[in-house]
Amino acid sequence: MQSYPYIITISSEKGGVGKTTLATNLAIYLKAMREDLPVTIFSFDNHFTIDRMFALKGQKQKGDVHDMLMDVPAGDVVQLGQYGVGFIPSSTELGDIHERFKGPMTLTRMLAESGLSGIVIIDTRPDLNILTQNALYAADRVLIPVKDMPSLDNCRNIFSLFEQRGIDKKSLALIPCLIDERIKFDGVFKDLKTLLRAFAANRGYRCLDTYISKSPKVESLNTNPDGRIYPILTHARGTDVHGQFAEISRDLLRSYDATPESRACLYFTWLAEKEGKRKESYLARLEGLADRCLICGTLLEEQPDGRGFYYETSDRTARGFLHDSCFTEMLCTALYGMTSNSQAFDAARMLMADKAGKTISLLSPKTSDSQTVLDYRQFSPTGEQIFQKDVDLTGFSEGILDGNNSRLYLLLNESLAGYQGRLRSDSWLAVHPVDPSDPVAVLHEDRYRSLQKMQIQIGAAVAQA
Ligand SMILES: Nc1ncnc2c1ncn2[C@@H]1O[C@H](COP(=O)(O)OP(=O)(O)OP(=O)(O)O)[C@@H](O)[C@H]1O
Ligand SMILES: [Mg+2]
Ligand SMILES: [Zn+2]
Repeated sequence: MQSYPYIITISSEKGGVGKTTLATNLAIYLKAMREDLPVTIFSFDNHFTIDRMFALKGQKQKGDVHDMLMDVPAGDVVQLGQYGVGFIPSSTELGDIHERFKGPMTLTRMLAESGLSGIVIIDTRPDLNILTQNALYAADRVLIPVKDMPSLDNCRNIFSLFEQRGIDKKSLALIPCLIDERIKFDGVFKDLKTLLRAFAANRGYRCLDTYISKSPKVESLNTNPDGRIYPILTHARGTDVHGQFAEISRDLLRSYDATPESRACLYFTWLAEKEGKRKESYLARLEGLADRCLICGTLLEEQPDGRGFYYETSDRTARGFLHDSCFTEMLCTALYGMTSNSQAFDAARMLMADKAGKTISLLSPKTSDSQTVLDYRQFSPTGEQIFQKDVDLTGFSEGILDGNNSRLYLLLNESLAGYQGRLRSDSWLAVHPVDPSDPVAVLHEDRYRSLQKMQIQIGAAVAQA
């Protein structure tokens, strides 16, 4: 069974508000509270705080955040570190990644396919670059530390990102951080956290019930002679901050437990469904193909080589492949009256093959007073008409196969026949060149979509006539 991670992103455009302290210590608290829950952490900044906190001595590195962002499965670069927390080593330089990361959901997909389960915590840089945005969109919960009015003002950008993409904002929550309890105000807002809360509520931002106090003890955990950074859980148990982290962790575990399908899971299921639908419609397109080349009549299964053209009628009722040679030889005869025993037929056929192989042909028969004329045109791949000729279809209406054009008559009859031997009115046939080494590729989603665009363009040209 595939498992998907539940993702918690810590983000704020403001620097030094306590993001990394929050991310790293939450990882430790969550793991301590639930030993069997896999907890993984990584960071997009290059301060190496994560590494200083979690790396074990002598541990060999399998890869880093840069590798993961280059699509190495995250599960392959995670290292099991101190306190039982998995971490992905930081990378000095993610600059080149910013340029490659175009889509907003790339990280969600990567994490869904990562093989990771449990909780993944993402510590971001103090900006809203494409990586931060990806981390925000991937998240089941986003925690935004705010310590003062400027950092509260900055939240607006995160909220409007969610609005722009139409993502539910209930995953976003502010958390007052680095709150100096000694500072008291006169009046309604008696302290900083009450003030921040009131302003947040006023702007429609949700705040966690818990806040994090400023503590000199916590601050000192960063500076140790051995270069390590110590956790609050083990080295600042006597502080208020310890209780506050425990409280936030309990809150996070509650929402983790209440989420049967994380965002990564939902996104992955959606992607898989989309892929399934793509396959289904591709198969449906394969289903409706004629089994013979309409010009020579041979079963394509028996003679699959040389399928150089794909045809489709304007009403899409007839579709299939034609042999390269069948179609070009037919054009030589229909357009220039040449037959295989004419002199220079070979040269003409080569020229025609070259031209037809680069253009889309339109065959639109028009009947008036029991006389049928074929409006034949060629279009460039960009849809410009580059050639037109009226071809007299003598005897066609009477059903006389005159020999010379009998193959053309067959093609038109087979593809455009309607009631009682007459052609379907207003229908036409377009013939598109395809790669004979992989003709069915034309039915793949993207190729087929552009083919349909061309059909519409051709239809407009016909309607104008
Ligand atoms: N509760 C706390 N009490 C006192 N000091 C704290 C507390 N939390 C964090 N700090 C200190 O505040 C400083 C900034 O914290 P931290 O590095 O976690 O912020 P950040 O938002 O990740 O910064 P950056 O934006 O640079 O990544 C650090 O020196 C840290 O030790
Ligand atoms: Mg940081
Ligand atoms: Zn054929």
